[in-house]
Amino acid sequence: AQIKSSRFASSHARVHQAPRDGKPEFAFIGRSNVGKSSLINMLTQRKELAHTSGKPGKTQLINYYLINESWYLTDLPGYGYAKQSKKTRAKWESRTENYFLKRQTLVCAFVLVDSNVPPQLIDLEFINWLGEHGVPFVIAFTKTDRKQSRDGGSVDDFRQELLKTWEELPPIFLTSATRETGRDEILEFIETTLLA
Ligand code: GTP
Ligand code: MG
Repeated sequence: AQIKSSRFASSHARVHQAPRDGKPEFAFIGRSNVGKSSLINMLTQRKELAHTSGKPGKTQLINYYLINESWYLTDLPGYGYAKQSKKTRAKWESRTENYFLKRQTLVCAFVLVDSNVPPQLIDLEFINWLGEHGVPFVIAFTKTDRKQSRDGGSVDDFRQELLKTWEELPPIFLTSATRETGRDEILEFIETTLLA
């Protein structure tokens, strides 16, 4: 897909408030600070379409960005933020589960995983949950420009972990928002999926 236009459409705390125009959407989800908002900016070639931050927990609502006036990129609040209270975490869990179970216009989720840290239980658990509930998803490893990632990183270890549970792996993308790695591959995937 070529991105000719992108604009912020709306923000919602809960899925039942989300747009009802039936336009297809791709949702970005992953640990806090993994680079969800940065990847959306990289894909749309906009510096500040989605707000990014060095501090985890920046994105608290479901943010809808309308692309080419025809499909959405959705930025979801991250998980695994250490300073979250139990109550906040429980709220996040029920809202996120609701989103993935109820959002009929969701075409595919992009689960973002930091390529610089060893496989994290919270990521594996979330991916397993999506798989068990039949939610279509791909994995996008982030921050491949950073040193640990360039020194080998965790992508192969992560694949091995997933293969303990699943016979088949989903499509996997290697990305860097700073170097714009993976942009063409992701946009091509989106285009193919939209045409399917
Ligand atoms: P929350 O909204 O808090 O869940 O975070 P997020 O997943 O949206 O992360 P965000 O895009 O705000 O980025 C978090 C931090 O990681 C920021 O300091 C970014 O500059 C940095 N970052 C994001 N992508 C990359 C990347 O590809 N490479 C490097 N080196 N840093 C990145
Ligand atoms: Mg964010």
